[in-house]
Amino acid sequence: MPADNLIDGRAIAREVHAETESRVATLKSAGVEPGLVFVRVGEDSASKVYVGMKERTAAKLGIRSETTVLPEDTPEAELLKLLAKLNADSSVHGVLVQAPLPRHIDETKVFSTVSPSKDVDGFHPVNVGRLMLGESGGFVPCTPGGVHELLIRSGTPIDGAEVVILGRGNIVGKPMAAILCQKSGRANATVTLCHSRTRNVVEHCRRADIVVAAIGKAEFVKADMVKPGATVIDVGVNRVDDPAAEKGYRLVGDVDFTAVQPIAGKITPNPGGVGPMTIAMLMRNTVRAAVQQTGSGVQ
Ligand code: GUN
Repeated sequence: MPADNLIDGRAIAREVHAETESRVATLKSAGVEPGLVFVRVGEDSASKVYVGMKERTAAKLGIRSETTVLPEDTPEAELLKLLAKLNADSSVHGVLVQAPLPRHIDETKVFSTVSPSKDVDGFHPVNVGRLMLGESGGFVPCTPGGVHELLIRSGTPIDGAEVVILGRGNIVGKPMAAILCQKSGRANATVTLCHSRTRNVVEHCRRADIVVAAIGKAEFVKADMVKPGATVIDVGVNRVDDPAAEKGYRLVGDVDFTAVQPIAGKITPNPGGVGPMTIAMLMRNTVRAAVQQTGSGVQ
């Protein structure tokens, strides 16, 4: 099995981290310590793992971070009050409320309450709008931003490419489409956004030069859906029952990796592809937030 077609997300994330780390050092020498606050509501086990990984990476890069954990039954108003306090705290440059939130809390309202200037997740309507408009000043959501960076840094041609995105979620699919269709030398793709009501998903995928799978269905993308030589990016993290596994389940992506790898021109492993890039982009966004809020000249 050829292994040389892998897009090594861990290695590319290390490159981005090195750039971020040097910006942090410059900021610190100018008297600014970038600060990031995570807010977690409830005890969702995946969220605990993700926030823990983000905290550790922040510490490694010299970004000060802290996590506020609220109980599952926290009233929405209390969460909004906490966000208002963080918005007003000048030592906090980035605020991230980990999704999913408990059902009684309106996620859209929460994401709209984080100040757009501290919205390192890129979920505030102002940042969503800026992305759609192709404005450079806003924050781009971390996972699709990370996929974009993977494509660029792996030398995948995007300009004029046929891109098929599977999944129309607000966190990945929709912003991914907005990023790749921009009129820009870093984008200029022809984008097709497929979802649960798309007819002939297989046909769409087969003509794609780039497939981005963010559909949340275990091993959905099969070998017969991929054009030989296409680039395949797997954003999925799905639990499948596995009695042989220690926890009784294992995690698989949206791509049937074993079947697709020999056909793809390039493919992300999973884990080790998109995941590390999501965190790298969060750290990069946090440093940008600190630069913008303090007027520091670091770029
Ligand atoms: N849950 C899954 N992905 C994300 C993300 O990128 N940001 C936040 N805040 N929550 C998430």
